[in-house]
Amino acid sequence: MSDCMLKELRIGNLVAKIPIIQGGMGVGVSLSRLAGAVAKEGGIGIISTAQIGYDEDDFSKNPNECNIRAIKKHIDKAKEIACGNGLVGVNIMVALKNYKEHVKAAVKAGADVIISGAGLPIELPELIEKGCNTKIAPIVSSKKALKIILKMWEKRYNTTADFVVIEGPKAGGHLGFSKEQLEDIDNLCYDNEIRDIIECKKEYEEKYSKEIPVIVAGGIYDNKDIKHALSLGADGVQIASRFVATCECDASDRYKEAYINAKEEDIRIIKSPVGMPGRALYNDFVKKTEKGRIPITKCYGCLEKCNPGEVPYCITKALTDAVKGDIDNGLVFCGANVGRIDRIMSVHELMMELCCND
Ligand SMILES: Cc1cc2nc3c(=O)[nH]c(=O)nc-3n(C[C@H](O)[C@H](O)[C@H](O)COP(=O)(O)O)c2cc1C
Repeated sequence: MSDCMLKELRIGNLVAKIPIIQGGMGVGVSLSRLAGAVAKEGGIGIISTAQIGYDEDDFSKNPNECNIRAIKKHIDKAKEIACGNGLVGVNIMVALKNYKEHVKAAVKAGADVIISGAGLPIELPELIEKGCNTKIAPIVSSKKALKIILKMWEKRYNTTADFVVIEGPKAGGHLGFSKEQLEDIDNLCYDNEIRDIIECKKEYEEKYSKEIPVIVAGGIYDNKDIKHALSLGADGVQIASRFVATCECDASDRYKEAYINAKEEDIRIIKSPVGMPGRALYNDFVKKTEKGRIPITKCYGCLEKCNPGEVPYCITKALTDAVKGDIDNGLVFCGANVGRIDRIMSVHELMMELCCND
């Protein structure tokens, strides 16, 4: 894209012409098709590794094997689609049972970046081979979390982050806030937290003589929102929900239609087996979970800390049902701005709109 009004994003020796990261969306919502299309436009396309192999033939027998295989398959495919443009990376949730294996598989497959949240990615640097060009970023929602991570990385590995993703309270999926905080977002004055987080990383930029770009995520809808994030001191943005309503998004058409039809009042903060609150569409599935547990008949071994006999439902089943198109009986994660999305467009059109509209 030649006429983008935004400044390129530099992460060490890697450059994305467009400072937009398409946020990782599991299960199966952001795979190679979406990530490749975003990279092709000069942005950073992110593949979610959460149960990434869910549509492989032998997934129910060997979920972990399928996931490891699918990480390489989707990174290769996304890079092929991107034709050398932009960057292709992965989102790996710390809460996953096979977190370390996912990181190693992504590095081996040549991921440009690894973004890691849903827990503190304390061990991430030790999983990245010395000399490889994969850049790493924690996802944080508070200055406190960033301080803990960067202090630990310094103490244990004498290293620091290549970039940082700040995920605010309007994001989709799992959220690093309490239910009470999410019920009164305005009261959080989150712009101040963003400014504080940016101050915090400056100390490490000086110590390690390198720039640590900061990416702001959560509720970014248009060019005005992007400019606002940049005015706070961010170097780029991460956007997820808007990319669901694109032709190239890897979810089923019914999933995309659910986004188009959703209104603001259809959004709920839900409980998740991951142990964090999440934002999702209020549907039959969520109503059912409000009435009691949905017994688990099969465990796919996705989370490090999950007791199938106790959790409210199986998160793998809920998310895979949804992405395949059973939007009434599955869990449809969404950001707080989903009510504003009213049509499906191509990734090219969306990137043009985000970059150029004033
Ligand atoms: C459907 C959906 C699935 C998501 N899945 C993940 C995930 O697997 N891991 C993760 O770290 N974040 C996940 N997120 C969060 C996004 O990557 C992103 O940071 C956030 O949604 C940005 O806010 P926005 O959707 O308002 O643009 C998900 C978001 C959505 C909407």
